[in-house]
Amino acid sequence: MDTKWDALKAECMACKKCGLCEGRHHVVFGVGNTSAEVMFIGEGPGENEDLQGEPFVGLAGQLLDKLLAVIDLDRNKNIYIANIIKCRPPRNRDPLPEEQDACIPWLRKQVAMIRPKIIVCLGRIAAARLMDPNIKITRQHGEFIQRNGVWMMATLHPAALLRNPAQKPDAFTDFLKLRDKIHEVCTHTYE
Ligand code: URA
Repeated sequence: MDTKWDALKAECMACKKCGLCEGRHHVVFGVGNTSAEVMFIGEGPGENEDLQGEPFVGLAGQLLDKLLAVIDLDRNKNIYIANIIKCRPPRNRDPLPEEQDACIPWLRKQVAMIRPKIIVCLGRIAAARLMDPNIKITRQHGEFIQRNGVWMMATLHPAALLRNPAQKPDAFTDFLKLRDKIHEVCTHTYE
């Protein structure tokens, strides 16, 4: 696994499949345990992530880490975190469909190697791309569906929670549902 993973990462770090490669400081490949049973997928790097080369390291990331800690998840121990796109769009605009199309094979390969039991989509862009293009995240967050043997759930994006703190209890409830699902289907996440 490690050699295959390292080869994938090296190839991704040199990617020039779309125009976003021109403005990037770092390719943000992902962070965490490649044996994780739970994967979190965000939208794409922002400024801090682009500068540091790691997903969710800004204010939204700090909030994510707190929500994770509530249910005993830790990016350095028992989960893996990645994004739909690996390079920062200018001024943090939404990634274009063609940028997503160019980039998503990297994520698909990461998922194929990690083989998670649960995928949590952080926000609408990830949920629309991976679960349902018409997903209504305000209504459907916290609902699990099964796809090709993988449990999938969308939750509110931590940056949206920073803009609208009134939604934090909803996100909290989603994380508690996630903990229940982990207890149900995972074998070593809480070991
Ligand atoms: N928002 C995302 O969707 N991903 C990151 O890595 C950081 C912020």
